[in-house]
Amino acid sequence: MKHKIALVGFGTVGQGLCEILDKKREYLLSRYSYDFDIVAVSDVRFGTSYHIEGLHIPTLLKDAHNGSFTQHLQTWDAEAMIREAEASVVCELAFTDLQTGQPAISHCIAAMETGKHVVTSNKGPAALAYAEMKALADKKNVQFLIEGTVMSGTPVLNLAQSTLAGATISAAKGILNGTTNYILSQMEEGMSYADALAMAQDLGYAEADPAGDVEGYDARAKVTILANVVMGMNLKLSDVKCKGITEITTKDIQEAKSSGARWKLIGTVKNENGHISAEVSPEMVPMTHPLAGIMGATNALTFSTDLMGDITIVGAGAGKIETGFSILTDLLTL
Ligand code: HSE
Repeated sequence: MKHKIALVGFGTVGQGLCEILDKKREYLLSRYSYDFDIVAVSDVRFGTSYHIEGLHIPTLLKDAHNGSFTQHLQTWDAEAMIREAEASVVCELAFTDLQTGQPAISHCIAAMETGKHVVTSNKGPAALAYAEMKALADKKNVQFLIEGTVMSGTPVLNLAQSTLAGATISAAKGILNGTTNYILSQMEEGMSYADALAMAQDLGYAEADPAGDVEGYDARAKVTILANVVMGMNLKLSDVKCKGITEITTKDIQEAKSSGARWKLIGTVKNENGHISAEVSPEMVPMTHPLAGIMGATNALTFSTDLMGDITIVGAGAGKIETGFSILTDLLTL
């Protein structure tokens, strides 16, 4: 069977996914019997392309570079494409809006209403409307998969939901935003805040609006997702206290270093005998603490469990190929 994939949004993640799919087509077929076509792509900047027998991936990548799609053009907007295209799965990879979750929430609803699975790294639907999305997926007998919403392709949600199934997770704590960890690491090396942020944007780590990273909102969304998806809570974003890194100066970083510590943006959610607390804030951690050694866009997360004590996972927190890989993970899960 050939899986028919539709992509909504063809920015960093969509292009990363396509690079992987194009390069690994033979491997995916021989190793996992996974055969696919990208049948549809819609992007607000480049237009909409659709062909039931599949679009040519190198051309899509070249077209994105040149600013406009050229093959099998359609007049559909994203939502029309989602509803009309003959696809089995929609990958929602448009920009994250943590105020409204839109247009991603509407995209996910349109896909599931028309019987298509949804795979997304978009934090909007997962952080603002996970319960509704999951209920609709169950009703329509499709899947709503979100591995890439927390720590890009580092398999945090699969670890907690599948591999640790049976253990109760009482806390999750760690570095959950690649951009801010990269900025803090670069500032320690002497780079200015503005230059480090510009580098994080160039490298594809930052959100379309990087305020989401530096103000802590992205990490807050990830804490909310962990709380609701992994720990069975029902938190809203506003339940998570949030402070970003914008007030941390190079002087603060150097002073911390001289006293044997490092500033890190830490996200935490805990359930202590029914008392729930959740927070994102910068913390000065001693160099001896495992999180102090996590540098650049790498992230780390510790789950506290009843049966296994603490389990820590360390890996990429952001990036084009890394987040593209998270989508591949979910496509193979389907
Ligand atoms: N902007 C996010 C980060 C991307 O820097 O972690 C991955 O969610």
